Amino acid sequence: GSALDVERPLAGRTVVVTAGGTREPLDPVRFLGNRSSGKQGIAVAKALSAAGATVRFVAAHMDQPAPEGVELSVAGTAVELRAAVREAVRGADGLVMAAAVADFRPAAYNDSKIKKTGDDGAPTIELVRNPDILAEIVAERRAGAELPEVIVGFAAETGDEAASVEEYGRAKLARKGCDVLVVNEVGEQKGFGRDENAATLLFREDAPGGPRAPEHVAGSKDDVARKVADVMGEAFNR
Ligand code: CTP
Ligand code: CA
Repeated sequence: GSALDVERPLAGRTVVVTAGGTREPLDPVRFLGNRSSGKQGIAVAKALSAAGATVRFVAAHMDQPAPEGVELSVAGTAVELRAAVREAVRGADGLVMAAAVADFRPAAYNDSKIKKTGDDGAPTIELVRNPDILAEIVAERRAGAELPEVIVGFAAETGDEAASVEEYGRAKLARKGCDVLVVNEVGEQKGFGRDENAATLLFREDAPGGPRAPEHVAGSKDDVARKVADVMGEAFNR
């Protein structure tokens, strides 16, 4: 290709990026949420744009503005995010699920603010499972639907006495079936809301190009984002 192709390996490609965290409402003033800042998804969107991609950015709740130059849609809850992602992936070449999607939502929504009652009691909040957006899309692609060729998931993991961060990541990759899983090690100093990050990219065992060794990225969320963009470029230009 031309010099331009080398600098913009994602020219002509459309990639959907989700970012931020979903909030699952309990009543008009309360929700179940998570600490996702949106930073990692924003960094990915910027890296993809810089590599020439058209970015469809699906924003859940973020503590900072969406990047410029993207096609923006917003989603508050996991169910809304699913609808927005389904819409956005039509005709897209890639999907990066950087959003922190709530696994559960309150089974019921109270139209009015939940009140304390006279006694000392406290309510029990029943939860139901949210759809697994990433797993659903992968399953549909496997069933033959026309969906993005490269699907990337993000996972924040902590190691424990039973297994390491990477072992948990491997198991999750197998469970999700996405092409790439970016595994962040979270702890006191790393992860949510931080600029610094350390991540390992794990690749699907049965990928078309054959198995690929994990890649470690030490550095900022921008470094991780650039790596994701590089990996996408390689996958498309293989
Ligand atoms: N994800 C999703 N829909 C969900 C939950 C997660 O699409 N309902 C996506 C996330 O955006 C992320 C990936 O799946 O890209 C991994 O999320 P994670 O929460 O680590 O995975 P879970 O399968 O929910 O596992 P866990 O029980 O560890 O939370
Ligand atoms: Ca989860």
